[in-house]
Amino acid sequence: MALLELKNLHVALEDGTAIVKGVDLAVDTNQIHAIMGPNGSGKSTLAYALMGHPAYEITEGRIHFDGEDVTELGADERAQKGLFLAFQYPHAIPGVTVTSFLRSAINAIRKARNDGEDDPVKIPEFRKELLEAMEKLKVPRELAQRYLNDGFSGGEKKRVEILQMAMLKPRIAVLDETDSGLDIDALKIVAEGVGDLVGTETGALVITHYQRILNYVKPDFVHVFVDGRIVEEGGAELAHRLEAEGYESFGAANGRSNGSNS
Ligand SMILES: Nc1ncnc2c1ncn2[C@@H]1O[C@H](COP(=O)(O)OP(=O)(O)OP(=O)(O)O)[C@@H](O)[C@H]1O
Ligand SMILES: [Mg+2]
Repeated sequence: MALLELKNLHVALEDGTAIVKGVDLAVDTNQIHAIMGPNGSGKSTLAYALMGHPAYEITEGRIHFDGEDVTELGADERAQKGLFLAFQYPHAIPGVTVTSFLRSAINAIRKARNDGEDDPVKIPEFRKELLEAMEKLKVPRELAQRYLNDGFSGGEKKRVEILQMAMLKPRIAVLDETDSGLDIDALKIVAEGVGDLVGTETGALVITHYQRILNYVKPDFVHVFVDGRIVEEGGAELAHRLEAEGYESFGAANGRSNGSNS
């Protein structure tokens, strides 16, 4: 069994509108998967549902993580088990600096992994790790002392997200649309962050509608996502085909009349 498995996953909005319509997906450690699809096809909805966002209801299907059914678990519990989502539009948290946010997030995970007993990271150890990660990801030092995402530029937000990912060391990293608005340098840093993280302990799911980030993050598997479903799967070459052909041919290939390939 893969580390993360989605089985026939259906997701609806609070008003009952079905957005994700039967997704099967298995992401294992040492693998980078890319989900590519047009605007509004339901990619972010899938990511939110995966993380346990309360506004997105799983109406059918299951999510298994590390052999355990996590479909009913809350967002916190999933995060503590090692599911990490980098948000497409990260929120500002006024009054909480990047450093204190990271430390609380790490401590929450440590606590969960220590059978609910507090096991806070030692401050010197935390500082050392933070400074090393910041240097590697070229996050300016002053950003760490600022309030999380408060007045950050798009590129700065993304760098901090990748910093967060590097510090939390999730088992599955889900990155939603991380290339939007990034300049080439930032894109390379994101890609390096993902590349460094993925290995024997960790797998990644990168959601995008541009091929651009995939020039830097080399996916092992590409899934084309149209109208709430995976309509085609392949290797990295599929991303290039998409760039050349667009999504229309895939939408048409899915067949408006049948939809039986869920
Ligand atoms: N909280 C919400 N309230 C109302 N509609 C929503 C909500 N979340 C998603 N939707 C709708 O669900 C559909 C799918 O949106 P979603 O954000 O999942 O698409 P996407 O594939 O991520 O698109 P993009 O490539 O533009 O990021 C859209 O029609 C969107 O308006
Ligand atoms: Mg989206």
